[in-house]
Amino acid sequence: MFPNIDPTTTSSWKSLQEHYTGMREKHLRELFIADEKRFESLSLTFEDILVDFSKNRIDNKTRALLISLANECKLPEAIQAMFSGEKINGTEKRSVLHVALRNFSGRPIFDGDSDVMPEVQRVLGQMERFSSRIISGEWKGYTGRPIRHLVNIGIGGSDLGPVMVTEALRPYRQGNMEVHFVSNVDGTHLAETLRNVDPEETLFIIASKTFTTQETMTNAHSARDWFLESGAGDEDISSHFVALSTNREGVTEFGIDPENMFEFWEWVGGRYSLWSAIGLSIACYIGFANYRELLMGAHAMDEHFRTTDLDSNIPVVLGLLGIWYNNFFGCETHAILPYDQYMHRFAAYFQQGDMESNGKSTDRNGKHIDYQTGPIIWGEPGTNGQHAFYQLIHQGTKIIPCDFLAPAISHNPIGDHHVKLLANFFAQTEALMNGKTEAEVREEIGNNEELIPFKEFAGNRPTNSILFKKLTPRTLGSLIAMYEHKIFVQGVIWNIYSFDQWGVELGKQLAKKILPELEKPGEVSSHDGSTNGLINAWKKMKS
Ligand code: F6P
Repeated sequence: MFPNIDPTTTSSWKSLQEHYTGMREKHLRELFIADEKRFESLSLTFEDILVDFSKNRIDNKTRALLISLANECKLPEAIQAMFSGEKINGTEKRSVLHVALRNFSGRPIFDGDSDVMPEVQRVLGQMERFSSRIISGEWKGYTGRPIRHLVNIGIGGSDLGPVMVTEALRPYRQGNMEVHFVSNVDGTHLAETLRNVDPEETLFIIASKTFTTQETMTNAHSARDWFLESGAGDEDISSHFVALSTNREGVTEFGIDPENMFEFWEWVGGRYSLWSAIGLSIACYIGFANYRELLMGAHAMDEHFRTTDLDSNIPVVLGLLGIWYNNFFGCETHAILPYDQYMHRFAAYFQQGDMESNGKSTDRNGKHIDYQTGPIIWGEPGTNGQHAFYQLIHQGTKIIPCDFLAPAISHNPIGDHHVKLLANFFAQTEALMNGKTEAEVREEIGNNEELIPFKEFAGNRPTNSILFKKLTPRTLGSLIAMYEHKIFVQGVIWNIYSFDQWGVELGKQLAKKILPELEKPGEVSSHDGSTNGLINAWKKMKS
């Protein structure tokens, strides 16, 4: 196991602090003037993906110090530990092996003494056979009609990945298959979804690692009731309900035939599970061959991450840049801005991916941390964001490091839409970097003294540009894996456990306690003044 090192005690951290005082004053414009080859030296390519990180407030020394921080924090050992199945999820004593789910190298991957690959391949085979039967229409609903609607019922990692990927890969949709997602326990989510589907043509995919999550189980029971009320019998459940889970007992108890269960394992974290059986809705929507391509793209990125020197390792470089801004510049958020409408859930997906992983304040030694860890992740697709929140990114008081992502080729080449989109993509990072000086403003508007300060842009706002050829399943797989590993890198350096999520427990426990109080008549007095007041006000309002 790699050691638990407080990053702030390393000599690189101290050197970075000193180095920061000089870098803080430097403008990106100067850095580009000083080094004509900056773009060449500060960009990396991986297959069809170009990652340009030259518009960051770094120089060669920053880069070297960040790499030495990674070495001092034993990042290479940590990468090795994850891929070799060490139990790096310390609080749950689990291996972290989502990389095994997309391991096409032929190498065994061990969880303890057992090679997990035969089981991974067994479930992939089951998914392949099942999805091809659904897509071909060979799998029939209870009245003999083929399945046309997939309704995935899950939440968090059992929802966000499939939602994001099926949206992103819509051009690869098979036939006239429709996919729907129900996650919120708010009955509206289920009711509005069921309005659009016909029970005879609908497959419910109950996705839950634990098969105990309140939201998912509530939605699954209500969906089953709706199905049975529509005229189907208990015997028809097997052709309309399947389960994706690690909990065989729970699945059987719900009434789903274990034959219709697609298994995964405790070493797959919920937010890293779209590569597992949780990806069944994806496979049924875009076809198994495309799903496999997604996995292969992720595997290719895994190999890059596992074998490339830290200095040219894309997830490592992105992770270290994040640390530079988070811990030295004091930036609190990070924006993910895809210039691709199909990627409109990409930032939302990584809100869970990143914030559930690295939103921690206890280190791996069990000690409270006095440095910043995971950033707030947010974002919307360009160009919509430009007309909403970019004002603050350009001229606000906060520095917001941003990732701009765009495909060179659109799936929908209508007129000049794509060049316009890309013109905006290129323009934004240029504007954020250069800003607009007072002299430039004067040249533009003359000596209108009053307006000059408002029209000035300081610039020097850091961005990464991630340009890729086309949003294919393979490229998407690589991009997702790139961010997953970036999160891993940061977790290692911050000396936190990135693969547990104890922080979501307290709210869940309290909701369980409050539920019976809401169901019983009478005032409550067992909470603090505000909570009692709110519950009692609700009781009055509803009656
Ligand atoms: O939000 C907490 C969490 O445990 C996530 O990590 C997970 O993705 C989600 O709930 C859903 O859990 P399950 O797949 O067990 O229903």
